[in-house]
Parts: sequence; structure tokens; C-alpha cells
Amino acid sequence: MPQRIVLITGGMGGLGEAMVARFHQANHRIVVTASPANRDISDWLDKHRRMGMDIAAYPADVSDYDNCLACVQRIQAEVGTVDILVNNAGITKDASVRKMTHADWDRVLRTDLDSVFNMTKPVLEGMLAKRWGRIINISSVNGQRGQFGQANYAAAKAGIHGFTMSLALEMATHGVTVNTISPGYLATRMVTSMPPNVLETKVLPLIPLRRLGRPEEVAALAVFIASDDAAYITGANLAINGGLHMH
Ligand code: CAA
Repeated sequence: MPQRIVLITGGMGGLGEAMVARFHQANHRIVVTASPANRDISDWLDKHRRMGMDIAAYPADVSDYDNCLACVQRIQAEVGTVDILVNNAGITKDASVRKMTHADWDRVLRTDLDSVFNMTKPVLEGMLAKRWGRIINISSVNGQRGQFGQANYAAAKAGIHGFTMSLALEMATHGVTVNTISPGYLATRMVTSMPPNVLETKVLPLIPLRRLGRPEEVAALAVFIASDDAAYITGANLAINGGLHMH
């Protein structure tokens, strides 16, 4: 497969880091965005350089459109046209609706849903000019089935797939595919920082495969969706959750 430029938002998080490793194995040029509050960017880049991965990193507040536009313009000028965009950045602010503050609702909707528009719109013209592009939106099993304590997150993650299907229709004749990947509970900090008793008593027993997913398993799926072999997959919502979506 030809080398392509892959932009991964939230590339330094648990799933993001696994994506970086897999896309690197597939011989692509990788650019990540990190939250402007992230103080570990240069350590992270050094660690990856020592492992033979030369990654470019740009700070971006994915909840802010103007910030994303400026970030993508810089990437296109300094690295090149983005061929593959993985909208992976996301946060949780779990609470039952009765206890959820408006600020918790707003932060999650802005960061997990608005971000998808904010990062996608600036990369589209470059993909259209090349008549080739891949947009991969990371949603969640909890956007497909709801989750106690996650009305904000589930609403944002369900909204992502509405965006995916609409944009997939708009891009269908232009060589650009748009898909959602909906992972289940992965062995990342987002999940391991849940209350352990909730994970053990309310979540794990519902997973038919009886284990957390590995971030590398999701990253491998993303690399496939980004490949030429996946050209006929668009507007899909790919479940990768150990069977949890059936509950
Ligand atoms: N299903 C049914 N009931 C639940 C429940 C669940 N999943 N979780 C909590 N409850 C019940 C509790 O049993 C408890 O009931 P009782 O009062 O009858 O005992 C009641 O709700 C209150 O529970 P808590 O004491 O935990 O209340 P809290 O307000 O302190 O916390 C919560 C509530 C924030 C929802 C907390 O339980 C929690 O963090 N749950 C985890 C939510 C979750 O699954 N998050 C996923 C994070 S990972 C992720 O998001 C990645 C991904 O894409 C999958």
C-alpha cells in the first residue's frame, strides 16, 4: 500500500497510541493531535523516536472549530495533505442525569461530537482534490445501546454515527469513505479508571467474550478500514466489543 498521511486525534491516549503503532507498522506517515493542556508531548515523542517512530505532534483543542482549522492548515503546510483522518479524541464525565451538571454535558458533547465536525471539515477539500480519503470516527458500544451514567457520552457517540452516515452519502462518488468504529470496553485508562466494582459486577458479566478488548485489536480494524481493500465499506458502524452490543 502506498505511504499515506494519517492524522489521529487524541493520538497519545490508550487507543490513540495503539493506532499510532499499527499505522506505523503499515508504513504510513503519522501525525497526532494532543490537547494543548498535555505537558508530556516532547517525552512522548522522544519515547516513540527511540522505538523508531518519527511522529509529528500538534496541539489542538478539538472542541474549538477555529483552533482545529488552524491546526489542520499548519499540518497540510508542514507535512502534507491528510489522506486518513481518525477522529479518536474523546473524554468521559460519567454521572446519572440527576447528578450531571450542565458543564459535564457540554464538555462531553463539545469534545466528543463537535470535534468530529471540527476536524473533518478542514481535511475534506484535500481529500476531494486527490479523489481518495478515509475518515474513521471512533464511537462506542455505549452509543449503540446506552449506558447507566453516560447520557452525555452515549448521546455524543450516537450522534457521531449520524454524522458518519450523512457524510458517507455526500462523499460516496468522490473516493472518500466515512465509517464509524464502535469499540466496547478496552483495557485503557478510560475504562480502568471506572469504579472497579461497577466494572466487575455491571459490565464484565455482560460481555460474552468475558474480557476487555485490546486497543491493538481496534487499531488493526482501523488500519484495514483505511486500506484500499476496504474501498467498498462506507457509512458502516463496525462493532468491536466482544459481543456486548447484543445485550
Ligand atoms: N447498571 C445498573 N445500575 C447501576 C449501574 C449500571 N451500570 N451503575 C450503577 N448503578 C446503580 C448502582 O448499583 C446504585 O444502585 P443502588 O443505589 O440501588 O445501590 C446506583 O446506580 C448508584 O450507583 P453509584 O453508587 O455508583 O452512584 P454514583 O452516582 O456514585 O455513580 C456512576 C454512578 C457515575 C454511573 C458510576 O456507577 C459509574 O461511573 N459507572 C460506570 C459507567 C460506565 O460504564 N462508564 C464507562 C466508562 S468507559 C467508556 O466510556 C469507554 C467506552 O466507550 C466503553
